[in-house]
Amino acid sequence: MNKKYSAEPYRIKMVEPIKETTREQREMLLKNAGYNPFSLKSEDVYIDLLTDSGTGAMSQEQWGAMMVGDEAYAGSKSFYKLESVVKNITGYQYVMPVHQGRGAEQVFLPQLVTKAGMYYISNIHFDTTRAHVELSGARAIDCVIEECFVMDKFHPFKGNFDLVQLNKVILDKGPENIAGIIMTITNNSAGGQPVSMENLKEVKKIANKYHIATIIDGARYAENAYFIKEREKGYEDKAIIDIAREMCSYADAFLMSAKKDGLVNMGGLIVIKDNEELFNKCKIRAIPYEGFPTYGGMNGRDIEALAVGLMEALDERYLKHRIDQVRYLGDRLIEAGIPIQFPIGGHAVFVDCKSIAPHIPADQFPALAVTNAIYLEAGIRAVEIGTLLMGRDPDTHENVGTKMEYMRLTIPRRVYTYKHMDVIADAVIHVYEHRNELNGFEFVYEPPILRHFTATFKPVK
Ligand code: F0G
Repeated sequence: MNKKYSAEPYRIKMVEPIKETTREQREMLLKNAGYNPFSLKSEDVYIDLLTDSGTGAMSQEQWGAMMVGDEAYAGSKSFYKLESVVKNITGYQYVMPVHQGRGAEQVFLPQLVTKAGMYYISNIHFDTTRAHVELSGARAIDCVIEECFVMDKFHPFKGNFDLVQLNKVILDKGPENIAGIIMTITNNSAGGQPVSMENLKEVKKIANKYHIATIIDGARYAENAYFIKEREKGYEDKAIIDIAREMCSYADAFLMSAKKDGLVNMGGLIVIKDNEELFNKCKIRAIPYEGFPTYGGMNGRDIEALAVGLMEALDERYLKHRIDQVRYLGDRLIEAGIPIQFPIGGHAVFVDCKSIAPHIPADQFPALAVTNAIYLEAGIRAVEIGTLLMGRDPDTHENVGTKMEYMRLTIPRRVYTYKHMDVIADAVIHVYEHRNELNGFEFVYEPPILRHFTATFKPVK
C-alpha cells in the first residue's frame, strides 16, 4: 500500500466473523433466492456491498454516548445535544429528528406542494425522494449535466445541475408551479458524484430570482464537502465543517438520511434555515407519522450516537481514508480495463455493465447478470442500478429504460479493509475476463411496483 491510499485512521476493537461458502453452495443459495440478491440471507454473503446505508461501524465514542441516552418522550437532553450539533454544522435554526431519510421526505416534501400540477426539480432525485415527490401529487424532473452520462470522461463535479436546462424547465413549467429545487449531494444515482460550491451558488441565484425554495438532500453531504476541498479552487485550506456550512447557506432546508454521513445505523433529520411557519407545519405532520418532534421515531440513545457521528463524519482524516478506499477499488478495476463511472465517486464504484455484456439485451438485465456472477464467484453481494430498478411506465407498461446499466459496489463506512477491496476487485476482474459466458435473466415473478426488491428470475438459456 503506498501513500496514494491512506491507511485506516482507527484500530479495530470488535469483530464480526463472516462466513465463506463454496461455489456449489452459492449456486444453490442464489437459485433459492430466485436469482435476486435482495433475497439472500446476509449470513450467506461474504462481502456485503448492497448499500452504504445504515451498514457502517460506530466508534467507541458513539457506543459510549449511547449509555447516556435520555429516553424522555418529549424534550430529552439527547435531543438538545443533537440540535446544538446540527445548528452548528448547518447554521440553521430549526432541527427535527426523523427515523430515516424517507421519513424526512414524507414529512417535508408535501409542505411545498400547494396545488395540483407542481414539480420538484433535482440534479437527480434518489428513488425514495422521487416516490415521495409523486406521492405528494407533484412530478419529479432531473436536470443533471450531460457529462454525468459519459462514463469515461473526467469532470470534477459530475453531479452538477445543468443550469441552462434548470432555467429552461422553470420557465417552461412556470416558476409558480415549482415546489422546490432538491440538491442531492453527493449525487447518488450518478455514482456518488459531487456538486461544486459554484454550482450550488448558481442554483440558489436562479431559485432566488424566481422565489423558489432550495432543499439539500444531504445523505452524503460530508463526502461532497471533501470533494470540494480536494477539487475546487479556493477551498484547499478550508475546514470541512466550514465548507459544509457554506453549502448549507445556499439552501433553505436540509433533509438527511443520517444512515450515511451521520455514521449511524438508523436515523434522519429535517433542518430548516429560518422559516418558522414551515417548521411548525412539519412538526404537525411529523407527530402522526414519525413521532413527537423531539424524538421523531428515534431512541434517545440513537440520537446521542448521531450527535457524535455527525462530527466524526466531518473529520478530514476519516473522510480521506473513506474516499481513498473507494478510489482504490475503482483504480484496480480501471487498471484491468473495466469500464466504470469516472472519476470514482464517494460511496461506491459504479460498473458499466452495458459495455461488459453488450450481448445481453436491456430486458434481460445485463447489470443483474454481472451482479449475480460476482456473488457466484466470490460471495460478494452488489446491487443492480439499471433497467430492472427503473421499472415500468405505469401507462404503457413498457420498461422505462435508462442510459445506465450499473452494478453498484457500495462500500459501508469503517467496515471493510483494503484487503477486502482486493477480493472484490479480483472477483470483478475474473467475471470480466469471462464476460462472454454471462447470460441474461427473465422474470418468474414480477411485482407491480418497486419490482427489483422482490422479483424472482430464471436464467435465459
Ligand atoms: N436520499 C439519498 C440521496 C439516498 O441515497 C437515500 C437512501 C435516501 C435519500 C433515503 O434515505 O434510506 O434513510 O430512507 N439511499 C440508500 C441507498 C437506501 O442504498 O442508496 P433512507
